[in-house]
Amino acid sequence: MLGRFFNHQKESQAVDVKMDVPRHVAIIMDGNGRWALKRGMPRNIGHREGMKTIHRIAEYANHMGVKVLTLFAFSSENWLRPKTEVDFILRLPERFLSSELPKLQANNVQVRVMGAVEALPSHTKKAVDTVMFETADNDGIILNLALNYGGRADIVQAVKRLSSDVEQGRCQIEDITEEMISEKLYTSDFPDPDLLIRTSGEIRLSNFMLWQMAYSEFWFTDVLWPDFGTEHFAEAVSVFQQRKRRYGGV
Ligand code: IPE
Ligand code: IPE
Ligand code: MG
Repeated sequence: MLGRFFNHQKESQAVDVKMDVPRHVAIIMDGNGRWALKRGMPRNIGHREGMKTIHRIAEYANHMGVKVLTLFAFSSENWLRPKTEVDFILRLPERFLSSELPKLQANNVQVRVMGAVEALPSHTKKAVDTVMFETADNDGIILNLALNYGGRADIVQAVKRLSSDVEQGRCQIEDITEEMISEKLYTSDFPDPDLLIRTSGEIRLSNFMLWQMAYSEFWFTDVLWPDFGTEHFAEAVSVFQQRKRRYGGV
């Protein structure tokens, strides 16, 4: 898959003049609950509304030339929420399948999922597998949904798999490199995020892609996720394009 992504990228660089479009954008979709409470509605209505924002942004990012859009949908810490809310959120992939799949197909979007999916309820896994299967041949933007994902948990699973390589004699401890760790993370098929967006006014990472965001540019907005529109996404990208990335250099 790594080959596929990078071939894809080379092709688009050959024909694409939009060179400073971020290749990988990550979004912490936050503020669904507050969006609903502000309207006197239960929090879950906010999650239902927030789901509708996903296609709007994926379609727009695709047209812009973004290659990967990673959305934080459910964190490994979100199990701390009331069971009714957790149950509702984990039913959303089924709703997503029925209401959003035709639009994703029409826009050539390929859906992927990252996180500890094995610990999700079987109905969630089934919906997620179906969406991935149905969109697997699409070669437009990759919509990568982080479900039961935590940045630290990602590093732990990577360390476990790398340790097992050492144990089996497939590599030596002293030969371990940063690239080898990156290759064991859930994001191994993708470049690191260029741009991180967080909605709802919170200025924190909440355990999202800790390793991968070492050099990402951050953009925060007070807009709540259900209200997040293409104009906000465009603003984030335009701010990104004015940033000077130095990676420690001058
Ligand atoms: C983000 O919205 C969605 C998830 C974490 C699943 P929240 O549910 O966190 O909304 P607020 O932050 O409580 O408003
Ligand atoms: C982060 O939002 C997780 C997702 C958007 C899925 P939270 O709402 O869970 O983050 P905290 O609790 O405010 O840090
Ligand atoms: Mg929140």
